[in-house]
Amino acid sequence: MIIKNIALILAAGRGHRLSKKTPKQYLDVGGITILRRAVNVFLENPTIDLIQVIIHPDDRDLYEAAVGDLGLPEPVHGGKTRQNSVLNGLEAIGIHFPEYVYIHDAARPFLDQKTLNSLIYEVEKSGAAIPALRIKDTIKCINKETIDSTLDRDYLYRAQTPQAFRYKAIFMAHRRFENSNFTDDSAIAEKAGLKVRIIEGLENNFKITTKDDLNKATKMTKKDYTDVRIGYGLDVHAFDKGDHVILGGIKIPHTRALKGHSDADVVIHAITDAVLGAIAAGDIGDHFPPSDPKWKNVNSDIFLKHAVKLVAEKKGIINFVDVTIVCENPKIGPHRDSMRSNISKIINLDVERVSVKATTTEKLGFTGKGQGIMAHAITTIKLPE
Ligand code: CTP
Ligand code: MG
Repeated sequence: MIIKNIALILAAGRGHRLSKKTPKQYLDVGGITILRRAVNVFLENPTIDLIQVIIHPDDRDLYEAAVGDLGLPEPVHGGKTRQNSVLNGLEAIGIHFPEYVYIHDAARPFLDQKTLNSLIYEVEKSGAAIPALRIKDTIKCINKETIDSTLDRDYLYRAQTPQAFRYKAIFMAHRRFENSNFTDDSAIAEKAGLKVRIIEGLENNFKITTKDDLNKATKMTKKDYTDVRIGYGLDVHAFDKGDHVILGGIKIPHTRALKGHSDADVVIHAITDAVLGAIAAGDIGDHFPPSDPKWKNVNSDIFLKHAVKLVAEKKGIINFVDVTIVCENPKIGPHRDSMRSNISKIINLDVERVSVKATTTEKLGFTGKGQGIMAHAITTIKLPE
């Protein structure tokens, strides 16, 4: 296979300005490491033939954990400065005789395909190109905390990466200025007299440098949970002979028991139906048919846990649960907090988001006559759009 276009991903820095234990490129942003995000953009582009990552020798394990499964070539060790790291990378990829190289900071995880494709087009046309952004603020030159002069911002741009060059030209330029310390490659290209074109960059392709940048990156990967649902569930069980009932998973001594196939926990059953209702996933009987002997005398936790799992599969978040238990006896008040805490554990939801209330029906109806217990539950669930 001819390897014409190589991406060189620089990941050998220490991330001092972020001051985290782990170098920033290995930090998780929305469940994916920053390095993996940067690599993925090039993996997804059909023009890029090879991705070579440059790492710090101490980071081998972090590298394996981040991108070890992607089938990339052996990582190359970087050097003391970014410029040293680039030179090591350029030397290492020489064996492939590439035509173009795209030098990219691993710390820029949000490069988009459109920018990359524009660069590919521009470097083939002009031989060197980088994405850059216009400056919006007025730029001041300062001397001893006092303004010395104001620059004409019409001529000022912020340079981003990837920076794309003819391989031979940039390799020679890097060799020639090996002992300088430039913070980007187009500065070296400039020094060597190469003409570097700019294409319009995007603000999203920022470099994660500070804590604010990391917070911004995390926010960008957060899903919008705009699909808010309310689910409702109702359950009734009749009293039978016995000496306790189970409500909200809590065993409460009583002169009677509740009749049912499972443990007859009306509270958990009502919540389960509310959760299933919010995701329109049928009811508890659909998932656990009472006709199936498997569910005889089981702890009702498993029903609710199943409903919670279905929500998780839809990447949803259970936000709140509110239950009303309707009965004359047993008295619910003394057990209310244990029920809340047990329900919060089953759902893995903060106890502050679980409410349990009780009411009588003033001796009216089947609950008033002590024939059984009824529970109503509502839940709010947020789903990603
Ligand atoms: N880089 C590198 N080798 C170095 C220094 C930096 O490969 N010796 C890489 C970084 O990993 C980063 C990119 O170059 O992806 C841009 O550098 P920068 O943002 O300065 O990262 P760090 O040097 O890691 O951060 P800091 O300067 O805050 O220490
Ligand atoms: Mg640095």
